[in-house]
Amino acid sequence: MREHWSGKLGFILAAAGSAIGLGNLWKFPYITWANGGGWFVIVYLFCIIIVGFPVMFSELLLGKLSEKDPVGTFKHFAKPGSPFRLTGFLGVLGGFTILSYYSVVAGWSIQYTIQSLENKFDQVKPAAIEKMLKTDDGKAFIRDKALRVELEDEGFKKEAVTAANLQVENSSLLSTTELHAALKSAKILEEWQEKAYQRKMRVPGNETWRAESFKAFYSTFLFTEFLNNKPLVILWHSLFFFIVLIIVIGGIKNGIETAAKILMPLLFVIMLFLMVRSLSLDREYQTIKFLFQGDITKLKPSSFLEALGHAFFTLSLGMGAMMTYGSYMSKKEDVLKNSMWVVGTDTLIALMACLMIYPIIFVYHLQPTGGGIGILFTTLPFELLKMPLGQYLCLLFYILVFFAALTSAIALLEVVVTYFIDEFKFSRVKATIIGGLAIWLCGLPSALWGSFLDGADYFASNWLLP
Ligand code: TRP
Repeated sequence: MREHWSGKLGFILAAAGSAIGLGNLWKFPYITWANGGGWFVIVYLFCIIIVGFPVMFSELLLGKLSEKDPVGTFKHFAKPGSPFRLTGFLGVLGGFTILSYYSVVAGWSIQYTIQSLENKFDQVKPAAIEKMLKTDDGKAFIRDKALRVELEDEGFKKEAVTAANLQVENSSLLSTTELHAALKSAKILEEWQEKAYQRKMRVPGNETWRAESFKAFYSTFLFTEFLNNKPLVILWHSLFFFIVLIIVIGGIKNGIETAAKILMPLLFVIMLFLMVRSLSLDREYQTIKFLFQGDITKLKPSSFLEALGHAFFTLSLGMGAMMTYGSYMSKKEDVLKNSMWVVGTDTLIALMACLMIYPIIFVYHLQPTGGGIGILFTTLPFELLKMPLGQYLCLLFYILVFFAALTSAIALLEVVVTYFIDEFKFSRVKATIIGGLAIWLCGLPSALWGSFLDGADYFASNWLLP
């Protein structure tokens, strides 16, 4: 007999766990920012209610009625020869592809949790500066930015140069080796940074806070250094996968549901805490104003498509994930009410993520450019650190990212596992190990090459899902 969720709560937490993921924590705040806030939020909510909710309802219902994996569900409802029979398979393939790189990114959050424990972001550590100065990029950065731009201020330049015990009148004449020697003492650099920081504090409105670009460079350096440490990236990708595997082997009730019942409340509490902490910084209520009034001129025709696409992504729709979770619902469950809970929770968390991240942006005058997932690992830790007890906020933040990714990864693997169980009559253990190993292997190229990861994401999000 098919296993069922123990009840309403177990199902809702597991399905919300699938929906709440990196999409909520990173992508939603980012696209909302890019589209001017306020009005975009309304467009997004409209897409969620008019399109997301009915599709969620349909996927859950189709799964519940067929009690099959996505491929089986379409076989159950579509006539032989109907092209719709292929749809389910594309979903399974999508789950397979997305999980392969999702796990790599989740592995980064393990590394950053550990780095927060070590308080690695707090100071620019002498040893790290030494290392950075040895790279070509590092040298070029120090030469071009640090001296020409950052030290263009005469008095300041003198201070730095004197501190380095270099009696040089014109710093731009420094050769790389001299420069290297000058900056060798990392302590000086740190002090110099601290001074720049204080300067900014004393001179409000001075947009070019000079040390800022150094910190930004340093954070990117730390991140790239980690990404280039391939064995470590693979280790965390594997560890993350192992955890997902253990949970999914446990089955619906003992594995997935139990994990969701522990992780989801924790996720909510951490999120609430970080949100309140962050909002308390924003004395002028800029965040609230931005989120609920916003700038209508930033709303473009393409914003509507972006909102719609994100509604699908964030609710885990269009690839049979909800169909799979629906197939484990017992007959007496109310699909309509359950859909409302899942959609509601996901939307709440997305809005809370904005309330958590925007105050940091407003208060510290950040310019969130780029928009790659890297922002979670480069800009944010340094901003969090500026708050009191920043190290612990960083730690909590990366645990949050880890939990959110974990419950989504479980759902992604379950799509593939249910497919193997239903279509090939594998046992759960066999299905999980074979499916899991295959996906883990396909994740290796993404762990090794960033461009492969981007390519896999592009292929899945822009081809397989539509
Ligand atoms: N909804 C997830 C997020 O917001 C991502 C996602 C898309 C997903 N499709 C999925 C998760 C299917 C689990 C299953 O990050």
